[in-house]
Amino acid sequence: AAATASAGHGGRRRHVLLFPLPYQGHINPMFRLAGVLHARGCAVTVFHTRFNGPDAARHPEYRFVPVPDGMSGAPSVAIDSVVKHILALNDACEAAFRERLAAVLAEYSRDAVTCLVADAHLLRMVEVARRLAVPTLVLRTGSAACFAGFVAYPLLCDKGYLPVQESSELDRPVRELPPYRVRDLMHMGSDGHELVCELLARAVAAVKLSSGLILNTFDALEAPELAKLRRDLAVPVFDIGPLHKFSPAAGGSLLRENRSCLEWLDVQAPESVLYVSFGSLACMGGRELDETAWGIAGSGVPFLWVVRPGLVCGRAPDEPARLPEGFEAATRGRGVVVEWAPQEEVLRHRAVGGFWTHNGWNSTAESVCEGVPMLCRPHFGDQMGNARYVEHVWKVGFEVGDGGELERGTVEAAIRRLMTGSDGAEMRTRARELKMAAAECTGNAGSSELAIVRMVTHILSL
Ligand code: UDX
Repeated sequence: AAATASAGHGGRRRHVLLFPLPYQGHINPMFRLAGVLHARGCAVTVFHTRFNGPDAARHPEYRFVPVPDGMSGAPSVAIDSVVKHILALNDACEAAFRERLAAVLAEYSRDAVTCLVADAHLLRMVEVARRLAVPTLVLRTGSAACFAGFVAYPLLCDKGYLPVQESSELDRPVRELPPYRVRDLMHMGSDGHELVCELLARAVAAVKLSSGLILNTFDALEAPELAKLRRDLAVPVFDIGPLHKFSPAAGGSLLRENRSCLEWLDVQAPESVLYVSFGSLACMGGRELDETAWGIAGSGVPFLWVVRPGLVCGRAPDEPARLPEGFEAATRGRGVVVEWAPQEEVLRHRAVGGFWTHNGWNSTAESVCEGVPMLCRPHFGDQMGNARYVEHVWKVGFEVGDGGELERGTVEAAIRRLMTGSDGAEMRTRARELKMAAAECTGNAGSSELAIVRMVTHILSL
């Protein structure tokens, strides 16, 4: 029988405290986890920064506790500024979080609070909770393979893989973490090396200080990587993904979704449409945007493209990106451009036959679970490693442009290969098999369902 939070406590609901990192790719899995815990009888309290704060009105079932972050505005989308922002948010929130957490502990009876689940990038919050005797678990929102890379990072630096000195080193295979090459590891060149080391060391420290690691992945996708983490870490690892399957419509979107694109999809032929989206942070140069647009136009394939404000590098996050003149006329009737889409529903739609993605982990997992093969264009962070797994382990997609500049001819050819080519069809077949494997994991007595039961039992025992 499933563990529930009121069992054994005189029917009183027990509280789980959550603290997401305030970025879309981290908010979504944390809200999905909130849905899972709430459905199992836990009362949920969400601590959050002012920056990218959630809309509490959309979640009347949770309690929200704002933590002043004292930071002015959003970082630019450049990756080094995101990393600095994450590190700075930790310091900026530490004292305020201590005060808010102490107040919440004084209000709820102490034994009613089970634990804090914090994002892996919030080490300072984990430390604060522990000093106040609150047990912690860590949610890492990327893949198991990616976190194994974090754990191995100091060793990989010792062995001379990092920092990268010459571009010729990028294709060197990482023998300790196959099938990664150096370019697939998180890295930022020698200038940003210390910053990345700090970020990853903190994430590993947060897990080691905690009573468990929660991963949004599943056995059928990453069994060897999960086994490796279980060997290397002294804490229990709960592979409870893909979380969106347990907690659909978790409502974590920061931007307003344009739902009209679903009606357009309704009248398209099955598996005919290419869905294009580069997530919430990745940005591209103006020329790359133009080449992408003309490649999509030239492919002749129907498309749904998310062009979010701020997509062009160096522009304000709310500045609309402008597509090249003549693009709309060239593609009229064949495609739709929106600023933000209901992505889970789009990928589930029978008209969608391919996904051109930046391979953020959520997008990758969402695509895998809907059996949609991928065209990969990773930008930074864990995305290169995710794309590597898509192409070389699961074989459900391939990279376009190989990290170099994009040309419209390359884009056209890649889109046709995925959508109408024979190896695209093979990738689609494998993607369908992975979809079925994912459904088994999330189904009754599947590995992820059992991991959720173990996780809730563990939380209630803390
Ligand atoms: C970031 C990093 O880029 C990523 O590599 C890391 O794994 C998590 O943090 P992001 O770039 O936003 O995430 O990408 P991703 O992880 O794919 O998350 C994007 C989320 O936004 C997905 O859950 C997706 O469903 C949602 N989304 C995206 C929409 O709802 N609508 C859209 O139009 C686009």
